[in-house]
Amino acid sequence: MRKVIIDCDPGIDDGLALMLALSSPEIEVIGITIVCGNTPVEMGFDNTKKILKFMDRLDIPIYKGATKPLKKPPVHALDIHGADGLGESFLEAVPGYEQKIHAIEFLSKTLKQEPCTVIAIGPMTNLAQLIDQDPSAFDAIDTLVSMGGTYQAHGNCSPVSEYNYWEDPEAAKIVYAHAQKIHMIGLDVTRQIVLTPEMLDTWEKINKKVTDFIRQITQFYFSFHWHQEHIKGCIINDPLAVAYAIDPTLCSGFEAYTDIETDGITRGESVVDAYDFYHKPANAKILTQVDVARFFTEFESRVINYEKH
Ligand code: BDR
Ligand code: CA
Repeated sequence: MRKVIIDCDPGIDDGLALMLALSSPEIEVIGITIVCGNTPVEMGFDNTKKILKFMDRLDIPIYKGATKPLKKPPVHALDIHGADGLGESFLEAVPGYEQKIHAIEFLSKTLKQEPCTVIAIGPMTNLAQLIDQDPSAFDAIDTLVSMGGTYQAHGNCSPVSEYNYWEDPEAAKIVYAHAQKIHMIGLDVTRQIVLTPEMLDTWEKINKKVTDFIRQITQFYFSFHWHQEHIKGCIINDPLAVAYAIDPTLCSGFEAYTDIETDGITRGESVVDAYDFYHKPANAKILTQVDVARFFTEFESRVINYEKH
């Protein structure tokens, strides 16, 4: 089984990504690191516990990481994810469960011990700090999948930028400058992953308990998408990064040199040199196509049929 660390900022779609990871037999989640993003880090930590509790997997260690972006002030996304970060579901808090070590220390120790995939579904602050403090641990990452950025799709934070890279562009820039190969699951592919009320109605007949839980945490997200974009459903970005890490044939794209803008009206933009203007070695695989039907078939067969429920 492939070992995986998830770096996240739960977050509704982060919650769904964790549920997908924990119901996938091909991977073993050996730790979850929390970064400031959608939610302050304490709230992300609490929300992760709530998800793990529902999945009956509180045995997985969670480590708190960066409490703010490298240079810019934090801008959380509670308008999108709700006041509690989980769609105003206000699930019961899970007490205790404090880890003694910081996320960077966990990453630093663990990555050098064994080959490990890192799925980063929040801002890249923790990863940039790891590069600063222990570059050889970062270099030991087996595969790095990042939900973030956009190549040709419209941004969700500005016309050209996606939230995770916009929120901490200096961190994303450091990671892109240092990494050999980042699998960029950007908005080009994630905007196609739309969870609809009809899907929930179908899933309810398969597994009411899991579907009720998903309904509870996504209702707020549905309203946001309706008011913002008139979409009858919600875009669930982060689970696609997990699905791709498990099965890379789910998405296709191309390799290119990529850099991240940090300031001004292009803050957070992922600049993808698709035509090799800069003659620099490719540091990213940019995913542009996704088999949406297969994603949802897999999501249903794993999350909705999760055997512990
Ligand atoms: C990303 O931003 C967050 O709001 C989501 O959790 C996802 O990781 C999408 O732009
Ligand atoms: Ca996220």
